Amino acid sequence: MSRPGATGVGIVGAGNISTQYLENLTRFADVEVRFVADLDLARAAERAQEYGVAASGSVDELLARDDVDVVVNLTVPAVHTEVGHRILAAGKHVWSEKPVALDRDAAAALLADAEARGLRVACAPDTVLGAGIQTALRAIARGDIGEPLTATTMFHVPGPESWHPSPDFLFAHGAGPLFDMGPYYVTTLVHVLGSATRVQAVASTSRQSRTIGSGPRAGEVFPVEVPTHHAALIEFGEGRSAQSTFSFQHALPRSGFVEVNGTEGTIVLPDPNGFDGTSTLWTYGSDEPTALPATGPGFGRGAGVVDLVRSIRDGGTERASGAVAAHVLDILLGIRDAAEAGQPVKIDSAVDPIAPLPEGWDPAAATG
Ligand SMILES: NC(=O)c1ccc[n+]([C@@H]2O[C@H](COP(=O)([O-])OP(=O)(O)OC[C@H]3O[C@@H](n4cnc5c(N)ncnc54)[C@H](O)[C@@H]3O)[C@@H](O)[C@H]2O)c1
Repeated sequence: MSRPGATGVGIVGAGNISTQYLENLTRFADVEVRFVADLDLARAAERAQEYGVAASGSVDELLARDDVDVVVNLTVPAVHTEVGHRILAAGKHVWSEKPVALDRDAAAALLADAEARGLRVACAPDTVLGAGIQTALRAIARGDIGEPLTATTMFHVPGPESWHPSPDFLFAHGAGPLFDMGPYYVTTLVHVLGSATRVQAVASTSRQSRTIGSGPRAGEVFPVEVPTHHAALIEFGEGRSAQSTFSFQHALPRSGFVEVNGTEGTIVLPDPNGFDGTSTLWTYGSDEPTALPATGPGFGRGAGVVDLVRSIRDGGTERASGAVAAHVLDILLGIRDAAEAGQPVKIDSAVDPIAPLPEGWDPAAATG
């Protein structure tokens, strides 16, 4: 049954992350999930049934539907743009999982294709729209730490092969900790410090192969194709900078760390790969930090799809835009290239400043 005013959404890719999207998108009133597609038709059918979606099948069947306006692309990174172009050619807007593309040309081509057709491409992560990070962004915007100047981010884990049942793609071209997890951290940095201008980096690889730790392929050994550690220095102009490490080779897990330091204080943000969490504010002259619990409605993955749908409807600009994703990709590729070349890399792309969401923003609400 179609909800009045809801935008029809289809999903491509019924794998691991699709459950989080389906859980939320089937609850958010401004959208209605009408089709789940996958190369594996049985998997698509299973997911559709699990979440009460009326139809499932092939990508072609999904793209032929005239009651679907936005397609959520949850395929693996290697085919994100190929699937994205097919979605656009069918006259539908794209929400893509990250990274938006594997290289700058592919990202630019996808955005140009969308623009030429009067369609939009938006991209994960939408964790940055969560109440946790947004509470911190509102604190920074109102001047709680003065002018933000520097940041430190840390993502250190042993590696996802222990829990992901098909982790090969996470160690292949287009992934690794830099491209798989970097988008959460670097997107948050762009929201706080603006556009990056130059990067420097060093990389290493601790082991040439890994062993799958769970699921039907447990025990299988697969090759590591990319560095599993990057240490980066990111410049944002006018002295603003961030030191960031992205690692799948730490026995001691320490991740989710984002600290921003300003002229008047320091704020520690919640995990940028989560939607909630408390920030901690330290200011000069105060002995005790102030806790800033997340304010406003809580929600999860799929919130960016609703922001996209409402922006299309109201003629605004979605916050998790393709332009932001392409700039973040440009920075991540710059980090990769700087580490490979042993030289700093200039970042040529830039984005407009992104305003925090109002405190009451709620993707579950019925609007318009
Ligand atoms: N797993 C996570 O925790 C997680 C978290 C955040 C984001 N992501 C991102 O989500 C995306 C998917 O990750 P995942 O873990 O769900 O992967 P997955 O391998 O579990 O699922 C991917 C699905 O896409 C399907 N697929 C692949 N190519 C296709 C094509 N050309 N047409 C139709 N279907 C196709 C596969 O059959 C599979 O069912 C990736 O971009 C990843 O970076 C994953």
